[in-house]
Amino acid sequence: MEQQERDGVATRLPEPAALADKPAGVPSKHLVPVFDVQNVSIFYGSFRAVTDVSLTIYENEITAFIGSSGSGKSTVLRAFNRMNDLVPSAHMDGVIDYRGES
Ligand SMILES: Nc1ncnc2c1ncn2[C@@H]1O[C@H](COP(=O)(O)OP(=O)(O)OP(=O)(O)O)[C@@H](O)[C@H]1O
Ligand SMILES: [Mg+2]
Repeated sequence: MEQQERDGVATRLPEPAALADKPAGVPSKHLVPVFDVQNVSIFYGSFRAVTDVSLTIYENEITAFIGSSGSGKSTVLRAFNRMNDLVPSAHMDGVIDYRGES
């Protein structure tokens, strides 16, 4: 790390913790998928609440769901934590993998 002169005082910038032990050749931004969502539609009975959602949610990243009331944010989250399994009318199409497992 380069020394910097600032107001006559030598300062050393801190080494970013994430890069400190980074092996050679590994990208600095090493993203680990947690949820991999492909073409998910979620229904309550014949009503389709969520249509064709695909996204990946990565470890140590912040992912936000933004949408109007009733757009299906909670429905998607309940598919991730399987709370929709407790709703008799709920079913889904598509694939949700959690750390590589369906
Ligand atoms: N248990 C359920 N049975 C039938 N329909 C449902 C059920 N839960 C949600 N819905 C419907 O599914 C759609 C999506 O609802 P959801 O609660 O996922 O939206 P949301 O984006 O979380 O809304 P909000 O911002 O108000 O929390 C809505 O039309 C809602 O009425
Ligand atoms: Mg909600």
